[in-house]
Amino acid sequence: MPRILLGVSASVAAYKALEFVRLATAAGHAVRVIQTPTSRRFVGEASFSALTGAPVLSDEFERDPARGAFPDQHLPEHEPIGHLQLVANADIYLIAPASANTIAKLAHGHADNLLTSCALAAECPVLLAPAMNDRMYEHPATRANLQSLRARGVTVIAPGVGRLASKGEHGVGRLAEPEELLQACLTALQRGGDWQGLHVLVTAGGTREPIDSVRFIGNSSSGRMGLALAQAAQARGAQVTLIAANVALPAPPGITLKAVKTAAELERVCAEEFENCDVLLMAAAVADFRPSAPADEKIKKSGRERLTLELEPTPDVLSALAARRRVGQTLVGFAAEHGERAVSYGRGKLAAKSLDAIVVNDISRADIGFEVDANEVTIVTATGEEPLTRASKAEIAEGILDAVGRLRKGRQDDAGS
Ligand code: CTP
Repeated sequence: MPRILLGVSASVAAYKALEFVRLATAAGHAVRVIQTPTSRRFVGEASFSALTGAPVLSDEFERDPARGAFPDQHLPEHEPIGHLQLVANADIYLIAPASANTIAKLAHGHADNLLTSCALAAECPVLLAPAMNDRMYEHPATRANLQSLRARGVTVIAPGVGRLASKGEHGVGRLAEPEELLQACLTALQRGGDWQGLHVLVTAGGTREPIDSVRFIGNSSSGRMGLALAQAAQARGAQVTLIAANVALPAPPGITLKAVKTAAELERVCAEEFENCDVLLMAAAVADFRPSAPADEKIKKSGRERLTLELEPTPDVLSALAARRRVGQTLVGFAAEHGERAVSYGRGKLAAKSLDAIVVNDISRADIGFEVDANEVTIVTATGEEPLTRASKAEIAEGILDAVGRLRKGRQDDAGS
């Protein structure tokens, strides 16, 4: 029985959380509710506990009569640490409604009540449904907080537009409807374990090819897309190895990280890791050329009119891996292309590099791609093209993994028929 931990924070919309619990329990889920102290001013614990059939907690030091167990579980014999046991037992942690204050605390890793402590301890997928006044939702602070939570793999269930709690006000910020909350949980639960047993190899960032001991030829790839892919694959249960080329962002815990600098190092580590992987997501921007004779020391300017660098091609890492692929491996390339012909260039690379899919983005647009947290891509496969419209890199990563899942399933179905 899937287990949902529901965290309720202070909002007029807390009444919708009751309806969500009713729907979720009717659909066969075991639900436990934790509340922030202020949320009790809106909806009381008696209603949640009646609907879930389990005690409702709001204080970390409060004794849990159910000892962290969900309604479908036996009580453990020992007395576990409340917030750790609750999240350990949960398949999913939904925070709905999530107030602006709770979102801010979550974004900064606070653990000042049971709800926020559970979020820090959660290894299961975390979903969050904001509910607040439109000015609070659109405030740059709230937007930045939501963005950093998304970047850490939290699924944000977008609020609706319509009548708000204060009289006569209208705008964005209404808590998503209970049916939508349940649907988001079902999608996350489905994704939750469906990559279990798979080994996913992700490359991220951009290679740097030395000119001398301090200078290099590099590119603008930040590694955000690769990190988002690694995180999303891990959240689906996969074992993930991330080969990061000059990525300044921290790798999420639980992911095996291999740091590389140059295309040659990337090639070597990819060659070592490739055999064991089921899915390769080649998001790194690999330099196509490198200085053929990098200087060991810093090149001096004095006495030079000009400096000519001779460049030699780097190996095409992805093509070389594709040439030695084994049955059952899925290979996905990434192509940053300019302008209208982006997708057709991508299709050319799909064939030339013998890939299962190539994710194409148009780098002539400033609002997506390098250095920003949003992206818009087209996934090109042998059978068609799937556009993923502008969204956070975390959401784009989910779309790419969904497409990879479909490709792998299609192949299994073909093998079975
Ligand atoms: N790639 C690679 N090794 C290279 C260059 C690219 O493995 N030396 C991989 C990238 O990681 C990416 C895919 O190939 O997944 C497409 O990269 P891209 O730079 O678009 O392809 P190129 O073949 O280098 O084509 P272009 O001439 O457009 O740069």
